[in-house]
Amino acid sequence: MKHNSLYIGTAVPNRVFSEWGKYSDVVTKSFNCFTPENEMKPDALLDGVGSRASLPESYTHAKVRFLSCEPIIKTAISTGAKVRLHTLVWHSQTPDWFFTEDYTEGGALVGRDVMLCRMESYIHDVLSYFIDNYPDLIYAVDVVNEAFDRDAGDDSGVRRKNNKWYATVGDDYYYQALRFAKKYSDGKIGLFYNDYACMYKPDMILSNLKKARDEGLVDGIGLQSHLTVGENLGLYFDAMKKFADAGYELQVTELDIGIKEKSKENLRLQAEYYGKLADGIASLKASGTNITALTVWGISDELSWRHGEYPLLFDENLLPKPAYFEFFPKLCGI
Ligand code: G3I
Repeated sequence: MKHNSLYIGTAVPNRVFSEWGKYSDVVTKSFNCFTPENEMKPDALLDGVGSRASLPESYTHAKVRFLSCEPIIKTAISTGAKVRLHTLVWHSQTPDWFFTEDYTEGGALVGRDVMLCRMESYIHDVLSYFIDNYPDLIYAVDVVNEAFDRDAGDDSGVRRKNNKWYATVGDDYYYQALRFAKKYSDGKIGLFYNDYACMYKPDMILSNLKKARDEGLVDGIGLQSHLTVGENLGLYFDAMKKFADAGYELQVTELDIGIKEKSKENLRLQAEYYGKLADGIASLKASGTNITALTVWGISDELSWRHGEYPLLFDENLLPKPAYFEFFPKLCGI
């Protein structure tokens, strides 16, 4: 389904494609782009078994494989959907062995130069695979995910805690990743920085990305938008305006809006909140803000990583919830 100029998507785990008969109607009627929930993350693509790499290409070049991507690629092509490549460089869901001298978990970490070579070859291999084999399938890539966090970060907020990218490459690892993605992309795929809780840290994100932005290495900011009913949407839209004023393309990348328990009143409040978010996005877009995609982080509550908070637009029986009716119509016209 084409929603005018806005891509409207959903996160899709491979289990949905293995039950495609059950989900295809809901998915194809509502969404025109997919994000693999886990299947394009480094721990899915880096070729290893358990705690070690499998036959790396070399000391500076780990091997990648794309088996996990086949279901989403096949379905996207057959339904005419686009795909978001989530994600290249992230401190999480990346095997520890990718950062060690002997490619085994627990091994000594490599130095900056070696890790930069491994980062570059990984980004090259992943981007080239999609560009060469499936041109125009990938509409955007989360080049870097969740690199800035006040509590887990250094003085600039660059994430240092539990971050082997920081431990090996250093505090500019996110900049280097953006540099390599720019080098190996096709000029058509949107190069994004993606993060959670953007409404609470817009200035930290903007200041850390400034060098990359000034060098044309990053096109947009992905606002994950894992929200809870009652959070301050004014802050959310203020952050969007700050990013837009700095020239960024904006995409809502992982939207879900939790409620404490499933009651008629809470479902009504959730619908109202989804509606207010849609109104604000529609209004910003109408005033020229470059919002180009919106993805909900899952099809139905039972599939959600936050399933206990009933955060999505369809219920466990794949029936649209009140939130669906307050949300979708407001986005389809923009
Ligand atoms: O694949 C293994 C399976 O073999 C094993 O049996 C099972 C039980 O241990 O775990 C499976 O892996 C799980 C994986 O999802 C695939 O289902 C991991 O344990 C689990 O931690 C992982 O959770 C994902 C989470 O990212 C990990 O950080 C969620 O599905 C996914 O929705 C979530 O998505 C992230 C975005 O990528 C980035 N933004 C935040 C968002 C929510 O955390």
